[in-house]
Amino acid sequence: TGGPLVDGHGRLHRDLRVSLTDRCNLRCTYCMPADGVPWTPTPELLTTDELLRIVDVAVSAGITEVRLTGGEPLLRPDIVDVVRGIASMTGESGPVEVSMTTNALRLPRLAQPLKDAGLTRVNISLDTLRSERFAAMSRRDRFEDTMTGIAAAEAAGFEPIKLNTVLLRGVNDDEAVDLTRWAIERGYELRFIEQMPLDGGHVWQRSEMITGAEILAWLGEAFELTEVPGRGAAPAERFLVDGGPATVGVIASVTMPFCGACDRLRLTADGQLRSCLFARDETDLRTPLRDGSSEEEITALIHSCLAGKRPGHGIDEPGFLQPPRPMSAIGG
Ligand code: GTP
Ligand code: 5AD
Ligand code: SF4
Repeated sequence: TGGPLVDGHGRLHRDLRVSLTDRCNLRCTYCMPADGVPWTPTPELLTTDELLRIVDVAVSAGITEVRLTGGEPLLRPDIVDVVRGIASMTGESGPVEVSMTTNALRLPRLAQPLKDAGLTRVNISLDTLRSERFAAMSRRDRFEDTMTGIAAAEAAGFEPIKLNTVLLRGVNDDEAVDLTRWAIERGYELRFIEQMPLDGGHVWQRSEMITGAEILAWLGEAFELTEVPGRGAAPAERFLVDGGPATVGVIASVTMPFCGACDRLRLTADGQLRSCLFARDETDLRTPLRDGSSEEEITALIHSCLAGKRPGHGIDEPGFLQPPRPMSAIGG
């Protein structure tokens, strides 16, 4: 069934981003409200077997790369089994590449077991180098633990390590150069991400958002930046710093959307397939799976989700509505 995973706008899909849980051990203001988050009840979450089954069907349909996200993916008790299961799958172009985006808090215990289970890469969120600011932005006093987690990823041999930074105006926007230097000294690739309207508290404002252009102007005062060509479907625009080999990136999802090259589908922890971070509707895979649907039937549902994919996120279009679920429930 199906043929290649091409949507109505000619985009071939290779990348599946899987949210493993909507829970997190931090409460970053741009992602989650401080409290009162309605966690998905456990019976609605995909079990390890259900999750692996859906990923397996997606791989047979043409997915070659899987990114595990959250909430915080390391909060899943079965995380090592999930990684091992996906890493053992074979797609059209060989073994499935499985990577993770995490806040690093549980990496001291898990980095080595995850590496052994076949995890290829980790991207780690780091918004500030100042402990008090970290506590204010994430509403948890865990800066030192984050540092320990990053060191654990390095010690386990993950390479490259990418860092994700969201700058908020008047909060950490004076740290662009310091963060970049800190990352370069350690051989990490830092990327600045424009804040997107996906926070639980609906506090996002276009006029307040720090733009990629602003960040590049700040960095340009401290470094010589040279654009790296050949970006493909990657969200990050990368720059050599002072002639390289160190690089820094900007993910300007709002002001310079990369939707035209999008190759991503998303699966939520409760088994809903989404064609876009900003999609307004979801395709339920959990119910048919539990009702005993065949691989062909689930493949057909993946294609129908893809058929409804819109050309872009539409953030700047009149009548734009933030998706009903926050980033923490959709997956970063
Ligand atoms: P690699 O560079 O291959 O490691 O992947 P990546 O940059 O896609 O990974 P990561 O999960 O670290 O993504 C970084 C951020 O980019 C996410 O937190 C999002 O803010 C943003 N992002 C990732 N995928 C998408 C997408 O499909 N659409 C939009 N608008 N933003 C995305
Ligand atoms: N806008 C942009 N990036 C976000 N992230 C979480 N919420 C947002 C948002 N509203 C990023 C985090 C992390 C990744 C999982 O998603 O910084 O790096
Ligand atoms: Fe793809 Fe939607 Fe992200 Fe655009 S906003 S890159 S279409 S997931």
